[in-house]
Amino acid sequence: MNDTSASTEHAVREHVATEHSVQRTSRALIVALHGAVRAVRMYPVENNAVQKAMSELATAVARVTDTDGTCGVRRIGDYLFINETRLRLTLDNYAAVAHVLGLFREAGIGGLTIVGAPAARSWVVVLSFLQAPPITVPEEDRMGLLAARLEQASIVGFELSPPSDEPGGDDAELDQKERARQTYVRSLDVTRDVMTSARLGKSPSLKRVKRAVQGIVDAILTDTASMLGLTTLREFDEYTFVHSVNVCILSTALGRRIGLSKLQLLDLGLAALLHDIGKSRVPLEVLNKRGVLDEAERALLQTHTWQGVLALLSLPAGTGRAWRPMIAAFEHHMRTDLSGYPRPVRARRMSLFSRVIAVADGFDAATTTRVYQASPWSPADVLRGMRDNARLGLDPVIVKAFINLTGIYPVGTVVVLDSFELALVQQASPEPTALSRPIVRLLSDAQGNRIVDTTLCDLTRRDDSGHFLRTIIRTEDPERYGISISDYFA
Ligand SMILES: [Fe+2]
Ligand SMILES: [Fe+2]
Repeated sequence: MNDTSASTEHAVREHVATEHSVQRTSRALIVALHGAVRAVRMYPVENNAVQKAMSELATAVARVTDTDGTCGVRRIGDYLFINETRLRLTLDNYAAVAHVLGLFREAGIGGLTIVGAPAARSWVVVLSFLQAPPITVPEEDRMGLLAARLEQASIVGFELSPPSDEPGGDDAELDQKERARQTYVRSLDVTRDVMTSARLGKSPSLKRVKRAVQGIVDAILTDTASMLGLTTLREFDEYTFVHSVNVCILSTALGRRIGLSKLQLLDLGLAALLHDIGKSRVPLEVLNKRGVLDEAERALLQTHTWQGVLALLSLPAGTGRAWRPMIAAFEHHMRTDLSGYPRPVRARRMSLFSRVIAVADGFDAATTTRVYQASPWSPADVLRGMRDNARLGLDPVIVKAFINLTGIYPVGTVVVLDSFELALVQQASPEPTALSRPIVRLLSDAQGNRIVDTTLCDLTRRDDSGHFLRTIIRTEDPERYGISISDYFA
């Protein structure tokens, strides 16, 4: 290698390294901001969690300011920029990004610049105001109100800027994986918006929701694996909107599997995205209660089925009523033997969409660490239960199609191989018959040493004598090994 090419290579590497570290500090800032927003919402100011979140936020702001000389967060279209850097979405920041985008939109601001190092107290005020936007006034007037409120409270160190309409970047330059994440974040944002406006008694328009569903259906049709991978990260589970988007993705993928047309998938996706919209009419104390619900609370939670119908009926009729989503909202907990809720007065058969959504819903709910569920089952256990436990009242044919879709070991499952290596399921096998032989990434060798293996391992591979090279013997709890699954899908 001659000198010039060596130095070019060096320069390229330097550039890549800087780019990485800029992304890392930007991502840390958004995650810290999101953490602070959540802490302020959930705890009283004097709580340790708030203090800790504030000091993390201050550190993250200082880091960005140190490198760039300034620290501004801007929303342009569906993208977040930290100063001049467009934030790349990764699996560990998309929920934070979606949330911050939503906050900015509702507050009617396009950007927030932090000047100097504001005191923790000032941050608490700013974040509380941001979370309680004056929703009764038109969006274009909200920024002025917010600025006035901050001035009244003598808060300094923050500059607001209005929303801008310039496009946020060229979609063509995004790789397929990032495009899938972008679709996911957009859908989270839209769904969150629909749920909050329904809760506030406003009637959200279905137009944006339909566009989001279209994005999901397109993504499922072009790259099912990336989209399914996104549903495996269930950290921000206290939000009904994350669950709704996951159920939408799983349902459309399942609908495709059972041969529905694209038009049907759009209908199914919409019904799936809105299946729990009735939860916007259930009090938050019940929805977010930790621990077991008492009988009255359970009854209240169960009303989300028929309340969903009412919520959908109150949407502007526009291009027609959302009849199919209403049926799905009403039926999705009914169970095929009608032993669920609401109890129908006379015999009926659940619609196909309801049966598909019930399977996707059951899977997502059971694999999520919910507020009222101490530890979630492994995805493989859940599938087994769905297949073998008739009491769940799922349609066995649809469950079979679902297992065909995800494999017996769904994406994100940690497994032990007969070679005693530990591995993570990365993708279902492309061979439809090889349900128990997905494509995995090795996590540790036979002695239990963690390895960083970037190559994927196809479990359908055989040696010369025709024996499988590796076979799954059981599943493992990732937490036992301190494995953070999101690291492997970023
Ligand atoms: Fe539900
Ligand atoms: Fe649900």
